[in-house]
Amino acid sequence: MKGIVLAGGRGSRLKPVTGALSKHLLPIYDKPLIYYPISTLMLAGIRDIAIISTPEHLPLYRSLLGDGSAWGVAFSYIEQARPEGLAQAFLLAEDFIDGEPVALALGDNIFYATGLTGFLEQASSLTEGAKIFATQVANPRSFGVVEFDSAGHPLSIIEKPEVPRSNWAVTGLYFYDKDVVDIAKTVRPSPRGELEITDVNLAYLARGDLSVVQLQRGTAWLDAGTFDGLMQASQFVYTIEARQGLKVCCPEEVAWRKGFIDTEQLLQLASRYPNEYAKYLRAIAVK
Ligand code: TTP
Repeated sequence: MKGIVLAGGRGSRLKPVTGALSKHLLPIYDKPLIYYPISTLMLAGIRDIAIISTPEHLPLYRSLLGDGSAWGVAFSYIEQARPEGLAQAFLLAEDFIDGEPVALALGDNIFYATGLTGFLEQASSLTEGAKIFATQVANPRSFGVVEFDSAGHPLSIIEKPEVPRSNWAVTGLYFYDKDVVDIAKTVRPSPRGELEITDVNLAYLARGDLSVVQLQRGTAWLDAGTFDGLMQASQFVYTIEARQGLKVCCPEEVAWRKGFIDTEQLLQLASRYPNEYAKYLRAIAVK
């Protein structure tokens, strides 16, 4: 399965912080925001990953991440000239996807939960239909909201509803079969002028091909796209790391634990940094 991280957008909710910076390069405690969705895809076992960003910011991601070989993955880079919606990713990445199933991770979404890797690995073996993840939220009006029947099957998804039918929000991680590009081509811009991912999901729902995994209450799903979200995400990562001594979404560690790189390569990565981050990589290598 291929993977895409969407790291473009306007970042308007974070202005002026994003005045001259890309949102996904901002630090979430000890690493750039984009490390988190990349780690999520890597935990799913995905190694062929396209980073989509603005023409202005794409070179920064290239310089941060390189070709991916240091982490045992391959990064491709694709420009999104204008932020015309999440579903545009599939049109821009058509050649990259090349008829395979694909996972899309939003660049500002962070996931952390026991058992999540299992869910992700299972989702990345998908060959037919679509699989998305929903979690309960206190403010469903701000999200795509899923209504379920009594057996847990999705009945509807409504984007930012005035009167939500449930408190289950669609999160920023989506797995699709090879049909997603053709489906995205049928999506028309919404009233806000964007190709909506909800319309892609509704197309799969109409075909009876959409599975919505209900992430349970122990799951942390954080969106770092607002001032509060950014602060909360940093505090969350700091709290877990300080308490457990284990890093959250450290791509070097994920690469090593997944067997994408060996111990020698991990130590090589550690030698790049003169700090605590490197000390951590060295410490896990000898455990
Ligand atoms: P949003 O957070 O919905 O939008 P945004 O990043 O433009 O921020 P704001 O609403 O504050 O202006 O986007 C979700 C993620 O998807 C985010 O990581 C940016 C990315 N994105 C793109 O890469 N291209 C797009 O066309 C859109 C709409 C979003």
